[in-house]
Amino acid sequence: MAKEIVLTGVTTTGTPHLGNYVGAIRPAIEASRQENTESYFFLADYHALIKCQDPERVKQSRLEIAATWLACGLDTDKATFYRQSDIPEIAELNWLLTCVTAKGLMNRAHAYKGAVDENLANAQDPDFGITMGLFCYPVLMAADILAFNAHKVPVGRDQIQHIEMARDIAGRFNHLFGEHFVLPEAVVGKEGSILKGLDGRKMSKSYNNTIPLFDTEKKLQKGINKIKTNLLEPGEAKDPDDSVVFDIYKAFSTPEQAAQMHQNFLDGIAWGEAKKELFTLVNSQLSEPREKYLELMANPAHVEDILQAGAAKARARAGAMISDLRNAVGLVNFK
Ligand code: TRP
Repeated sequence: MAKEIVLTGVTTTGTPHLGNYVGAIRPAIEASRQENTESYFFLADYHALIKCQDPERVKQSRLEIAATWLACGLDTDKATFYRQSDIPEIAELNWLLTCVTAKGLMNRAHAYKGAVDENLANAQDPDFGITMGLFCYPVLMAADILAFNAHKVPVGRDQIQHIEMARDIAGRFNHLFGEHFVLPEAVVGKEGSILKGLDGRKMSKSYNNTIPLFDTEKKLQKGINKIKTNLLEPGEAKDPDDSVVFDIYKAFSTPEQAAQMHQNFLDGIAWGEAKKELFTLVNSQLSEPREKYLELMANPAHVEDILQAGAAKARARAGAMISDLRNAVGLVNFK
C-alpha cells in the first residue's frame, strides 16, 4: 500500500517555545517514526517574509527552528526536511495555482479579513498595510501542500481554513486540467496538545507569555518561576485543573507522575515546591536535546548540509509533479 504523506510547515519568524514543542514538534517527530507514513517537514521561510521584514530575524529564526527539530530527534533519513525557499518548484506551482484561484475565495480568508476589520476599526483605508503576500498567503500554502500531494496536514486550529482553501484550489485545478492533486485534510491536535502560557492563555509569541525551549537552564527556571499562580498558602488545597503549573507538568510527565502531582495539589503543595518539581521534570527531558541544539547552533554549516540534502530529496518529488503540471496547462516544449 502506498504510504500516507504527512506534511507540515513552520513559519520562520520566532524562536521555538515549550508550546511549539508540545503542540507541534514532539507529536510530528513521533508520527514521522511510523512505518506507514512519509513525512515532509519544512521551514516556511517564504511565508516568513509576509510577516517579517527584518532579514536578521528571518535568518536567525530559520537556523533556530532547523536546529530545534534536529535536536529534538528528527530522523532526516526517514523524514524529508527542507526550506521552502530551496524548492523553486513551490514558487512555480504557486503561480499555476494563483491562475485558477478565485479572488473571492481569498477575500474570505480570516487573516486577510481580520486585517481589513482592524483597519476599519481604526478608521483607516481598508487596504492599509495589506500586501499581496498577505492576501495570497493561502495560495502559497496550497502550493506547499500540493507540490507533494500530501494527504494529511497537521496544523493549529487557526490554519484549518487554509487547508480547506487548498482543497478548493486543488479541486478547481483538477476540474480544469485532470486529476493531478490529492485533496488534503487538516489534522488538528488533541485539546491537551495546546499548552498554556505564563498568564493562563494559550502559550503564544503573540501573547508574550512563552517559556523558551532551549534557552539556558537558568532561563528555563526563571520562566517557570514567572508562571502566574494564586495566593493560596502551603497546606491549602489547590485546583490542578486551573493551574498552568499543572498543565505544563502534565504535558511532560507520565500518567502516573501526573496522578501523583494531582494529589499533591489537592494536598496543598506549596507553589514554590510545585514549580521546583516542574522545572526538574522539564529540564530532565530537555537537557540532552539542549546540548545538541547548542552544538548545531554553533555549526550552521552542518545544518546547511542537512537542509541541502533535504532539498534535493524534496525537489526530486516536486520536480516530477511540476513537469506533469506544465504539460497539463500547455507549457510544453516543442521538441
Ligand atoms: N501557515 C502555517 C502557520 O502559520 C505555516 C505553513 C506554511 C504551513 N505552509 C504550510 C503549514 C503548509 C502546513 C502546510 O502555522
